[in-house]
Amino acid sequence: MRALVADGRGGVEIRDVDEPRPERTEALVAVSAVSLNPFEVRSLGSAKENWRPGSDVSGLVMTPAADGSGPPEGAGVVALGRGGGWAERAAVPTEHMALMPEGLDPGRAATLPVAGLTALRALHAGCLMPDHRVLITGASGGVGRFAVQLAAHDGADVTAVVRKAERGADLERLGAARIAVGMPSGEFDVILESAGGTSLAAALGIVARRGTVVSFGNSSKEPTTFEAGSFFSKGGARLYAFSLFPELERLGTGAHDLAHLAAMAAGGHLDTSIDLDVSWHEAGDAIEALLARRVVGKAILRID
Ligand SMILES: NC(=O)c1ccc[n+]([C@@H]2O[C@H](COP(=O)([O-])OP(=O)(O)OC[C@H]3O[C@@H](n4cnc5c(N)ncnc54)[C@H](OP(=O)(O)O)[C@@H]3O)[C@@H](O)[C@H]2O)c1
Repeated sequence: MRALVADGRGGVEIRDVDEPRPERTEALVAVSAVSLNPFEVRSLGSAKENWRPGSDVSGLVMTPAADGSGPPEGAGVVALGRGGGWAERAAVPTEHMALMPEGLDPGRAATLPVAGLTALRALHAGCLMPDHRVLITGASGGVGRFAVQLAAHDGADVTAVVRKAERGADLERLGAARIAVGMPSGEFDVILESAGGTSLAAALGIVARRGTVVSFGNSSKEPTTFEAGSFFSKGGARLYAFSLFPELERLGTGAHDLAHLAAMAAGGHLDTSIDLDVSWHEAGDAIEALLARRVVGKAILRID
């Protein structure tokens, strides 16, 4: 079969590779679409030749898992894999797999696993309540756009933080009460923080008493120096270290969460914010566009 593999020079190529050999807990999926995430495209820069990226997949079950778990043969699915998904076929754990609801385009579904689950679980880690004041950094990105919508859907008052106003032009339509260019002043019960550096430092100063800063990214790649006094004076405030796979392993909610997100998307309650939708034969250009920050939202590849 064919797969996108690292060419060892920072890019990818479609090459012939061995067929996947699923574990007992994995289904073999004929992949229809995949989405691209920052850690995958960044990793290509230093990846050895033949490394196989790809966590977000949607497609059809060819062979169900041998242990009897997960959807049956022929079912449309969306799933979070552990790599190797940018391919014609992939072995994917059923614990992170959900049935595709009727009417949901496979490309839209493929945006949900990493970005959607991160947004959903990070809000949960922040103990989101309907009346909470929520601040979301990186709001113009894939995770940020899902987080804005999910928090607003749950009744929170959402402030979306962007670097440039034009990249957040549609965030009010997605549910943000206001857009802030750069970190605002104020007080917030839940802060989803993925920019790192000075943004994380500012978050620790504007979190409310008993509020939570959920740190899940460092897009700025900068270290953080923060004023300890302005943080500990917010008695009971917490800094939560969020990493998707350990979070899902601990909670065991991957399949359930994906089904929930897919149902929301199919029902028109979750915009998948696809900005780039191309064939996997154009993966090189798509990756370049992501790295150059020309994509606002999600990029997907159709395995055609
Ligand atoms: N811990 C986990 O399990 C986990 C899971 C998923 C993602 N992540 C991380 O979460 C972050 C967001 O993921 P994503 O998929 O949403 O990425 P994305 O679609 O590339 O979006 C990145 C966001 O960060 C902003 N940004 C980039 N550089 C910045 C900087 N120097 N200062 C402030 N903001 C900056 C971007 O703003 P512009 O639009 O202006 O460029 C955009 O809003 C990434 O760092 C990713 O690696 C972590």
